[in-house]
Formats: sequence, structure tokens, C-alpha cells
Amino acid sequence: MKTLLINIKELLQVRETHVDKVSGAEMAALPALQNAYLLIKDNLISSFGTMENLPEVADATVIDAAGKTVLPAWCDSHTHIVYAGNRVQEFVDRINGLSYEEIANRGGGILNSAKKLNETSEDEIYDQSKTRLEEVMLQGTGAVEIKSGYGLTVEGELKMLRVIKKLKENYPVAIKATFLGAHAFPTEFKENHSGYIDTLINEMLPKIAEEKLADYIDAFLETGYFSVEETERIMEAGKKYGLPAKIHVNQFTAINGIAACVKHGALSVDHLEIVTDEDIEVLKNSDTMPVALPSCSYFISIPYTPARKMIQAGLPLALATDFNPGTTPSGNMNFVVATACIKMKMTPEEAINAATINGAYAMGLSKTHGSITVGKHANLIITKPITSFYQLPYAFGTDLIDQVVIEGKLI
Ligand code: NIG
Ligand code: FE
Repeated sequence: MKTLLINIKELLQVRETHVDKVSGAEMAALPALQNAYLLIKDNLISSFGTMENLPEVADATVIDAAGKTVLPAWCDSHTHIVYAGNRVQEFVDRINGLSYEEIANRGGGILNSAKKLNETSEDEIYDQSKTRLEEVMLQGTGAVEIKSGYGLTVEGELKMLRVIKKLKENYPVAIKATFLGAHAFPTEFKENHSGYIDTLINEMLPKIAEEKLADYIDAFLETGYFSVEETERIMEAGKKYGLPAKIHVNQFTAINGIAACVKHGALSVDHLEIVTDEDIEVLKNSDTMPVALPSCSYFISIPYTPARKMIQAGLPLALATDFNPGTTPSGNMNFVVATACIKMKMTPEEAINAATINGAYAMGLSKTHGSITVGKHANLIITKPITSFYQLPYAFGTDLIDQVVIEGKLI
């Protein structure tokens, strides 16, 4: 099967040779080709170039992309797409003055979602989650990481991870699964943290490994949730099962968690609404990708990740949605890119790098996704006719996506 896109006004994120991520000042450049073609064979990018070098291709389905921009599909490296029900009442409670912390302390928050999840059947959770996955694919997401973390029991966590596995089997989008048993302490373990971590390490992890249900391990390293030491225990246990860490950290407080994550070789550290100079120092010269989640900052009115400061220090940065029922009921990467530009003062070039190649890196997919490179998966966004890709973040409420290609096929 061959598909030939012709007359592409602008082809973005063109990388002739492999790059696994872009950092610091490099993020300001988004390599592009004007008046381009792109050839897809089966599910892969086969070649691309300018229209004057258009090859003769027999038996191809031709798509005329005149006036349109083509870019790699978004790589959303941090989501909680699998959940049951919603938390609209907490949303209204926050409008009426309660904070996220106050709601959590009253048994709402993550524990509220865990209760709902444990009361809902696997099939029903699958049905609710697939609707969200289909929605984000249409919004241009071609690779996504999905976490567990609303089970908090052996059965509940396995149920979530099995739903993720089923989504992986049934959808063409690339999916990575992360085990987030350490999302919150269940009420019965409130005074017995080590007891819950023992369950996580001795009961959940072996079963998850046996069924090969996870690629990564995560924990909510935060004051009032998992301490640095507790998270280190979890990262070490994950390592034994071949699960690198991707950690929720520095959402509300900075407690030297990032240093611990870097020490344990975490693939990514995510949230980072509160970042100290020391945190920035430890991230320098590490292989750990910092990930910002601006829709979360927007939705629960907390600070935005200090992107400018981090990029100026030479760090890379990825952008992801954090799609979840409590802090970010949106999986729209277009909104994330726009919000990063508008609120975090990232340039459109930086934001698109952060949402494609750096997002791919943050879920171990940068060899196969995140750029227009021969041999990478043909996961693409074809925009409506636009004069400049700057319109994508500028017209933040407008759907400028015309078509989405996943694994070489229009969806
Ligand atoms: O990434 N911060 C921790 N976890 C989620 C939110 C969990 C929830 O409120 O359901 C997050 O924001
Ligand atoms: Fe999250």
C-alpha cells in the first residue's frame, strides 16, 4: 500500500538523520521543507523531498495537500486516559472555593476515582476509555502513554493495565503502559505506608511483569503522597522488572525529588510546576526528560512550568496533556501546544518540538515516532489550508486539523 502526499505547503519537523531529542537553544529550530511531497509505504515514511524532485510512483493513492501543512502526529507522553466516570462535582466545588488539596483531604480526588474504578467492570472501563482514545486520535495524537493508578488494589491495577493492553491491541496508535500503583495511599493504608508499598512490590509488580502489562513505573512523589525515600523504593523495584521510571514530581512542592529520579535514571520527570535552581542543575547532563503539563496548570489554577528558565539553562522539555478526570479532563494536544506558547512563552517552534520529538523520547519512542524521518511510522497531521504554522497555537480554539494519518492510514 502506497500513499503519496503532494504539493504540501510546508512539511514540518523534517529530520534527515536520527535525533532522539532536542535541548535548549536547538528547540528554537523546527526544520521544514516548503512545497514538498511525502511518500508512505505501508505504515512507514518511505521518502520525502521538494516537489521538483517528486519521484514516479506507481499504484499510489495521491492526496493533494495544496495550501496545507503536514507535521508528525502529537506524541503525548503522559496521560491517565483509562478511568471510570468523571469528577464534575469536584470541578464545581473548586469553582466554589475549595482547593485540590482540600478536596483530596475529604476523600475526593484520586481516591474518589479509585472507588469508581473498582466498582466498574473491565468492559465498561474499556468502553469509556476507548471513546477518549478515539477523540485524541482525531485531535492528532499518534502515540500516547497511559497510566494505571486508579485501582490502588491488586485487582484494580491489573484491571486498568489489561484495559490499556486491549486498547493497544485494538487501535493503531502507539501505546506505552505505565504502572502507577503509587498514585495515592488507599484509606486503609493511610497510617501504614510501608504496608501498601509492600503490596505494590510483592503482589502487584510480579503479576504485572508476568502478564507483561507495563513498560514503565510511576509514582506521585509529592508532599502528602509518596516521599523521596518511598519513591526510591518503588523505582528500585521497577528496575528489577525492567521498568524504567517516569515520575510525577514537583507539582505542588519541591522536595529534592528530581535529584532522586535522575539518580535512578528516570526516563522522565513530569509536572514540574515548582522548579528550583538545584532541580535545574541536576537535570543538566542527565538523560531524564522534563515534561510539562500546561493543561493541568490551566485547569486547577497552579503555576505553569518555568519553560523559559529551563530551556535557557540548556534543558530539553516535552509537553503532554495529563488527560485525567481530576486535574486535566482534556487530551487535546493542540490546546497544550497553544497554552505552552501563550502562558509559558514557548515559541511555536519550541512547543512543536516539545510535543513531537521530545514527547516521543519521554516514552521511549523517538527511534520510531516524533519526526518526519525515513523509516519512522507514518503518523501525521494534515492541517486545513493555513498561511503559517504559527496559526496552530495562535487560533487556539479553532480546529485546524483536516486529516490525521496513523500507521499510514487516514483515520
Ligand atoms: O497528574 N498529580 C497526580 N496525578 C494526576 C491527577 C490525579 C487526579 O486528581 O485524579 C495528575 O495531575
Ligand atoms: Fe498525571
